[in-house]
Amino acid sequence: MTEAVLLVGGKGTRLQPLTLTTPKPMVPAAGVPFLAHQLARARDAGVRHVVLATSYLAEVFEPYFGDGSAHGLRLTYVTEDVPLGTGGAVRAAADALASGPADPVLVLNGDILSGLDLGGLLHRHERAGADVTLHLTRAEDPRAFGLVPTGPGGRVLAFTEKPRRPEEFVTDQVNAGVYVFRREVMDTIPAGRPVSLERETFPGLLAAGALLHGVVDTSYWLDLGRPASFVQASADLVRGVVRSPAVPGEPGEFLLLPGARVEAGARLGGGTVVGAGAHVAAGAEIEGSVVLDGARVGEGARIHASMVGRQARVGPRTVLHGAVIGDHAGVGADNELRDGARVWCGTTIPDAAIRFSAA
Ligand code: GDD
Ligand code: MG
Repeated sequence: MTEAVLLVGGKGTRLQPLTLTTPKPMVPAAGVPFLAHQLARARDAGVRHVVLATSYLAEVFEPYFGDGSAHGLRLTYVTEDVPLGTGGAVRAAADALASGPADPVLVLNGDILSGLDLGGLLHRHERAGADVTLHLTRAEDPRAFGLVPTGPGGRVLAFTEKPRRPEEFVTDQVNAGVYVFRREVMDTIPAGRPVSLERETFPGLLAAGALLHGVVDTSYWLDLGRPASFVQASADLVRGVVRSPAVPGEPGEFLLLPGARVEAGARLGGGTVVGAGAHVAAGAEIEGSVVLDGARVGEGARIHASMVGRQARVGPRTVLHGAVIGDHAGVGADNELRDGARVWCGTTIPDAAIRFSAA
């Protein structure tokens, strides 16, 4: 039986204000909490038991996902009262695993959408006889990631988290946030204190001569840490650019959740999702965006690549382009918000107050 650990304890700071009350993996993408897509992918790869390593807003996961049976797998929740970092979380979660010392265990960052063949990664891990196998992708700008040069046969040579110094940029291969650990390697991570997999565990293993095996796979991959990539992921899921069995509908240009109301003459496209009880007035245009439950979009509003929070209100003729509107926020008529502009939960912007605003 294959087991997996999903790291879902981060604060999702870059997705604020939506992550002030909802942890990032519970923010809906293509109609369901993003985590549902990851669980579905894991299940399809043969994973039967997932340990959710929670910390920030830990209490909201279990009421939604329960024991996992509705998602075709068994779920165990392990909560750090104080965040222990990615390594500390893996160490804490390991105690809930049934795998034997030599068994492979998947570890996944909770904010990654990818088309990676997880079963294939497990297979490569076994074939390489590695201590840890890492999925690597390529990034034009690796500064937000872990930089991972490899040598012959895919052996990892170094692991540099968030590289800065010019001499560190020796490759475009970056850590894609999916690992296979030999179970006993997890048990070597110190317990009860914060540990970073990326800054401590991987460099330490390399220094000790462990075999870290890198598998470069450049199929679809997105880190959902920033609002622009979150809406992109949702839109790609809706359109079927990347497949997830958890999307509640067939692939198409838009997705309406039950109870969404869209007036005649409104135009939806680019993988837009409109949440339950949301209302889109006539003449509005929504492209590649996420409109959450109960939100209201006024007549002639134009929304592109943006997120509109639960019960939020976007006034008539207002333009949103790459903006994030918090839950219960209100943007009056005739505003224009662009390029990472954010409206905090519950705040109200009067009519015609903003022509252009960057984060
Ligand atoms: N349980 C728990 N506890 N989970 C945590 C903690 C913690 O203290 N800190 C972070 N996490 C979870 C986050 O929820 C997320 O799913 C994952 O660990 C990675 O954390 P991020 O905060 O998203 O890290 P990042 O995006 O800056 O960098 C990581 O991902 C990149 C790929 O997207 C690193 O692994 C990089 O090396 C990698 O390139
Ligand atoms: Mg991330």
